[in-house]
Amino acid sequence: MTEKFVVTGGAGYIGSHVCVELASAGHDVLVIDDFSNSHPEAVRRIQEITGVDISLLEVDLANPANLPKVIESVGAFDATGAVHLAGLKAVGESVEQPARYYDVNINAALTLLRALENAGAKKLVFSSSATVYGDLNESPVNETGATGAANPYGRSKLFIEEILKDIATADKDWRIANLRYFNPVGAHSSGRIGEDPNGVPNNLFPFIAQVAVGKRDKLRIFGDDYPTRDGTGVRDYIHVVDLARGHVAALDYLAETKQGGAIDINLGTGGGVSVKEAVAAFKRASNRDIPFEIAPRREGDIAEIYADTSLAKDLLNWRATKTLDDMCADHWHWQRNNPNGFKS
Ligand code: UFG
Repeated sequence: MTEKFVVTGGAGYIGSHVCVELASAGHDVLVIDDFSNSHPEAVRRIQEITGVDISLLEVDLANPANLPKVIESVGAFDATGAVHLAGLKAVGESVEQPARYYDVNINAALTLLRALENAGAKKLVFSSSATVYGDLNESPVNETGATGAANPYGRSKLFIEEILKDIATADKDWRIANLRYFNPVGAHSSGRIGEDPNGVPNNLFPFIAQVAVGKRDKLRIFGDDYPTRDGTGVRDYIHVVDLARGHVAALDYLAETKQGGAIDINLGTGGGVSVKEAVAAFKRASNRDIPFEIAPRREGDIAEIYADTSLAKDLLNWRATKTLDDMCADHWHWQRNNPNGFKS
């Protein structure tokens, strides 16, 4: 059945891939984005890839002055639900500017909630993060694992999860999935959309990709003395297209379930990859040298985390299908074709 979904942050890295999968599944999409960390060109390319028109509302969701406009647009679109990805996401910046992180991330979520409530569209997928597990669990970590984020960014995710649970408890019509992403990497196979970080990338894959394409001299590996198989940090990297399909599966589940409420669901592959293994795989995929040096550990990093994915399999009938080599090949394809991201 065709539905109408609002996608906040729909021009961003994960959001653009979610839009492609939703439009390809026959749904109508309204992107809400202020392009503070994304580019309008991404919306154009979503349409190019899918051949489907995407509606766009350019607005800062976190500014309460925009609430009437958001309510009006979501109502006029006749939304049936939403995927909420808009927000600030740089861990280090969140430590320096905690008030800004709580203000923007929490207010954006509340504004969207009011607009959905007003439209009677009580179906929501929230972009949460494995960061909510902190360093408190043995991997594979499942959704009942202890939570306790290590920085304001992570805590803003946790707080929003909790707000959504309270809302779903108070009003049984709400159906909400908090999707806890592990580490999204890769790009659409067309090479037309992908991750386009501002400035120096914080995350491993965009940094490696910029080294491979010659934009940066070398990678700094943050620590090789962790208690892992080769001493470098282990993460559960998931292809962004698999991740995006997980959102479609979650919305299908929310449409079918008889039970209201808010549920937490991990989206990962279930396997761990070390930094050195990721570098080796990217080298194979790109056929480029990836020089690196060993640097001190990065503050706040943990040794190892990967997902228990059984809940997503059981509930959503979804699992990640793409390999580490697919992730590297697609990430490289995007980077090589768009060395300056959407600005090229
Ligand atoms: N790393 C390096 N060098 C770099 C960048 C990263 O060695 O230049 C290492 C990190 O130390 C870590 C691994 O590569 O071991 C992955 O680091 P990322 O920054 O790519 O990812 P994180 O797991 O630290 O963080 C990501 C997201 C967060 C999210 C978190 C959830 O960036 O937003 O996953 O676990 F909260």
